Amino acid sequence: MVTVTRNLKKMGCMSQLKITALDIFILMFDMFKMSDEMKLNGVNIIQLPKNFDRRGNLSVIEEIKNIPFTIKRTYWIYDVPGGEARGGHAYLQNQEFIVALSGSFDVVLDNGTEKKIYSLNRSYYGLYVPRGVWRQMDNFSTNSLALVLASIPFDPKDYIYDYNLFKAMSRDANELVNLPK
Ligand code: TYD
Repeated sequence: MVTVTRNLKKMGCMSQLKITALDIFILMFDMFKMSDEMKLNGVNIIQLPKNFDRRGNLSVIEEIKNIPFTIKRTYWIYDVPGGEARGGHAYLQNQEFIVALSGSFDVVLDNGTEKKIYSLNRSYYGLYVPRGVWRQMDNFSTNSLALVLASIPFDPKDYIYDYNLFKAMSRDANELVNLPK
């Protein structure tokens, strides 16, 4: 920041535009905050704290600190018969954090233009899924246990079950995001 301020001073910009060092600091802070928020708003594998102990290991999730939302609901998926899939929908508002507490499974995410498979098989990391992503969970191993932390209480109106509608909505959202500066 000091270099930026010095260069601007050299160019005489600061006096012409009446920019102060404080303005530049605020601008850079906002830019940093923005990029951090953008990172958190994307699909993200999040490593959780690990407390190794010969008596058994311990991991922890704290809202806001380890995941980018406050937890309004917790549910878990278990006893999934071989070959079954869960999900097959998107949420309008709900964000989730999914952890394979035991065993393994795949989370298939689709943003409307591309699909990616995330294999979860450890209890010390999880997948952050922002709203507006089509998601399915499959390939569950025997005795697997999927823990899901959600950002809103259960609300059937928050579900999008129609894939074509989801595609249309994500296309519109992409147009908004891609508006030229
Ligand atoms: P659903 O979200 O459709 O499960 P999945 O996406 O894994 O296939 O939920 C299955 C059923 O459980 C449905 O009848 C709604 C109910 N349910 C709740 O009552 N509360 C909840 O928090 C969730 C996630 C589901």
